[in-house]
Amino acid sequence: MLRFPERFLWGTATAAYQVEGAVQEDGRRPSIWDIFSHAPGKTFHGDTGDIACDQYHRLEADLDLLVELGIPAYRFSVAWPRVIPSGRGAINQAGLDYYRYLVDGLLQRGITPLLTLYHWDLPQALQDEGGWTRRDTAQAFTEYAAAVYRALGDRVPFWITLNEPWCSAFVGYLQGRHAPGWRDEAAALTAAHHLLLGHGLAVQALRDLGGKGEIGIVLNLASQVPASDDPADLAATRQVDGNENRFFLDPLFRSSYPEDMVDYYSTMSDFSFIQDGDLSLIAAPLDFLGINYYEQHIVRADPQNRERGAIIDVPPGPRTAGNIGINPSGLTELLIRVKNEYTSLPLYVTENGIALYDYVDPEGQVDDVERIAYFDAHFRAAHAAIEQGVNLHGYFTWSFLDSFEWALGYSVRFGLVSVDYRTQTRIPKQSAHWYREVIRHNALS
Ligand code: FCB
Repeated sequence: MLRFPERFLWGTATAAYQVEGAVQEDGRRPSIWDIFSHAPGKTFHGDTGDIACDQYHRLEADLDLLVELGIPAYRFSVAWPRVIPSGRGAINQAGLDYYRYLVDGLLQRGITPLLTLYHWDLPQALQDEGGWTRRDTAQAFTEYAAAVYRALGDRVPFWITLNEPWCSAFVGYLQGRHAPGWRDEAAALTAAHHLLLGHGLAVQALRDLGGKGEIGIVLNLASQVPASDDPADLAATRQVDGNENRFFLDPLFRSSYPEDMVDYYSTMSDFSFIQDGDLSLIAAPLDFLGINYYEQHIVRADPQNRERGAIIDVPPGPRTAGNIGINPSGLTELLIRVKNEYTSLPLYVTENGIALYDYVDPEGQVDDVERIAYFDAHFRAAHAAIEQGVNLHGYFTWSFLDSFEWALGYSVRFGLVSVDYRTQTRIPKQSAHWYREVIRHNALS
């Protein structure tokens, strides 16, 4: 038996646009993901989140399902375009009411809520003005964050400002694979700073409002491994690490951007978007750090690759349906690194999971043995980090339900629970039954 610490918080996660549907109801207005997913060629088969898992209409049943599966904590996100549909200004009470209903439904069932304020669904009205490239978007985010906190601050114990700002900035504004679909390096750097500034301003605003909620941020961090000892590969690895990991960890925990990255980007940006006081706001003390772990990268130098100067390979061995390599030891290494180099704050794995092409078989079962093996190995990797002194307080599997997987649409499945999108039938997979036992014993056998 491999035991986890007492009070270790096990949970599962979703995000608003991926599960809610009901995109035109009760005053919600479009987010960048509504516009992006409806634009031709942006998502697999043109899939959108219009209906998704229809959780907006099926909340009670989904919350009951969490109870049935023995899930102690649920991480969800609030859709900014439901609460302040135009991005700034008037609050839409019906939008806030939905999340009050969700939070109260969790609390009544004894499930701990973790609330993410921004999981990528910027109101399109703000994008029309430039989105995160505009400094005042950070201010608008702060006002939205405060509105949600005023409504729910008394009952939500864990607050997450941003989910994966690297994705918002670099996948959204440089790679163009996510909304808003820009391909502009200078814009991506500016957006990254304004996201972090929005985080810092929101932390300050929430602290000023008082209350007991713990406040943190969620970063997607990858483990970076050089393809060889060649100095060019080592330098490329440091630079990819600089972009994906240090560009966010350094300002949050050291109050500065990494110097090598400021140099690297100097031909594209002079960083004049940084104003006095920004970095100390961004580095405001937090209560926890959430880490989403999916990837280990094998980095090879490639001077031809303008965006990154490198080629990123996946480790040899099995891959997920999203073509990502599987390397649990990268999680141990990453958690130890964050502790050694950045912070002694409580850490949570706020997301980790595997995309599969799983299916309901003729007996009505989903035998997702690969998912069980994946979680088993990653939970062991997390346990190894705890044994080496990492202050890991909880683990959230991605995801509760199969759902709209951004640019991949509905083509891959991440859920513990299978969703038949046509009928909205939910069927817990074998992994859900397995996870319930892990949680019940707080241990792996
Ligand atoms: C993360 C996102 C989450 C989900 C998983 C698979 O990057 O935060 O919404 O799509 O990947």
